[in-house]
Amino acid sequence: MCGIVGFIEKEKKDINAQDVLINCLKKLEYRGYDSAGIAVVDCENKERKLEIRKAKGRLSNLEELIKTSPVEGTTGIGHTRWATHGEPSDINSHPHTDVSGYIAVVHNGIIENHNKLRKWLEEHGVVFKSETDTECIAHLIDFHYNGDLVTAVSEVMKRLEGSYALAVVCQQEPDLIVVAKKDCPLVIGLGEGFNLIASDVTPILEYSREVQYLDDNQVAKVTATDVTIFNKDGVIVEVPVSHVDWDMQSAQKNGYEHFMLKEICEQPFVLDQTYKARVYAGKIDLQEINSIVEKATHVVIVGCGTAYHAAFVAKYSIEHFARIPVDIDVASEFRYRDPIINENDLCIVISQSGETADTLQAMRILKQKGAKVIAITNVVGSTVAREADFVMYTQAGPEIAVASTKAFTTQLMCVYLLTCALTKDLEVREKLMSELEEMGAKAQLVVDRQAEIQKFASRQFNKTKVFYFGRLSDYAISLESALKLKEISYTHSEAFAAGELKHGPIALIDDKTLVVATCCQPFLYDKMDSNIKEVKARGAKTLAITFEGNHAFDDVSDEVFLIPKTDPYIAPILSVIVTQLYAYYCSVNRGNDPDHPRNLAKSVTVE
Ligand code: M6R
Repeated sequence: MCGIVGFIEKEKKDINAQDVLINCLKKLEYRGYDSAGIAVVDCENKERKLEIRKAKGRLSNLEELIKTSPVEGTTGIGHTRWATHGEPSDINSHPHTDVSGYIAVVHNGIIENHNKLRKWLEEHGVVFKSETDTECIAHLIDFHYNGDLVTAVSEVMKRLEGSYALAVVCQQEPDLIVVAKKDCPLVIGLGEGFNLIASDVTPILEYSREVQYLDDNQVAKVTATDVTIFNKDGVIVEVPVSHVDWDMQSAQKNGYEHFMLKEICEQPFVLDQTYKARVYAGKIDLQEINSIVEKATHVVIVGCGTAYHAAFVAKYSIEHFARIPVDIDVASEFRYRDPIINENDLCIVISQSGETADTLQAMRILKQKGAKVIAITNVVGSTVAREADFVMYTQAGPEIAVASTKAFTTQLMCVYLLTCALTKDLEVREKLMSELEEMGAKAQLVVDRQAEIQKFASRQFNKTKVFYFGRLSDYAISLESALKLKEISYTHSEAFAAGELKHGPIALIDDKTLVVATCCQPFLYDKMDSNIKEVKARGAKTLAITFEGNHAFDDVSDEVFLIPKTDPYIAPILSVIVTQLYAYYCSVNRGNDPDHPRNLAKSVTVE
């Protein structure tokens, strides 16, 4: 939610701050697109005033604005907004300034005590321009400013409650950017004669691969040539420099119309990569977690949204293959319900971004309760990755589209690999592993048939209601399929356990309904057959997704999509590709932008 960036160079050379900031913001637009803005100062010309440009709506509006009204300088900060406090508008856009306009702030997060701070500032004569919580920060910095921006920001941090990643510039000290963080991510990129800051590494990679991750309650003074990081007591701390070797190509569209389609099509490759990262010579390598895996008698998994659906699928597979009970929860519920955690519990958190506020808190609760936590995450160096005891990285590469696709299926690959590690019956384990090894190739067979799904979507995209149902892991994947469709096509879609239909949901079925029945549990084909007939009798159109070679639904369902045969418990990796493609084409047919769905942001760093 919200992306912040910053750039500072010693002298204006080939690259100028304004262009770098815009370029970096493009890479962070997935974090919010309600408005965008930049603030620039100039260390070569200290007389030059701090200049701000901001515009409501997509980043392209800001780009248009600066075409006619460019800003010059060496030092700047930028912001792309997902509105929390105050509607999307020019005035509520970041950067925000103090009354004099000398200090500018960009902020990702929520200041929970902003009402109290606003009241206090108003009592001290401040007149607010915006409705945002962030504006308080700019005024507070001004209040504490005595010629030293680092000290002022550190003092203000003591007064802030909530979460923040901040970047601040100041007209009086144009040769530095001050950044600070608590519960929101912040990365510093190290260049030669310049430095950058950003909410995540993707904007930095074009300029540098050497980064430092700021920890909570740290504040950093970033100049063109130096980075000094202080802890909350003002003591300088050494923060290691990490090298990031993500492939930049995967953050480009490479000829695809949208990132989402590209990411769907990348799944065969990244599934292979995720498998190969953990399996050598037919043996699973999870050495670092062997000790907890071996004594696990109970598994607890938490996540949000799509990551929670990966947990849902994991429950079925771990209980079936490893015969260990699994509890799953959405992180926002888990963190408030005083969960019971025992010493031998295997605790897993799943998060693509590794920055989701609720998931992070859930992980901290698990750790406070003495559990060792395994994180399944995609983003190297993310907060979840750094705070977990063990990390299994999904090898999905940067996922730019807001709707998660390749991160999800690689999360599934990770939970299936963990299932293998937990499965004591060696024959069962080996069979499962050989199925997983083929998953990349089988996913390719589904992706290759995207034209069929495109055609289907062009006929069905106008349905006002789409229901997904299935049994066991087909039910779990129905939840993900329904989420994907609602996220990007804004169609009312829900998922049901097929057996629950008659207990209520069937009342919703009429001739405006499409029902997608995932039927990959052979011993339950008869039950699904009846369920499909029941909804058809009430006017619904149906699509059945089942295995190649199964003709049981040919005469029952209006349409049938066949996926390659595999174990029913791991079929979700394949069946979900069909529903991802369906959601994507519905979105496009409806004239939406699937990469930037309304009201959503990729990384939910606030509660
Ligand atoms: O980064 P995370 O995996 O922690 O994010 C969790 C959810 O916010 C995320 O999966 C969300 O549901 C996506 N928009 C799904 O497409």
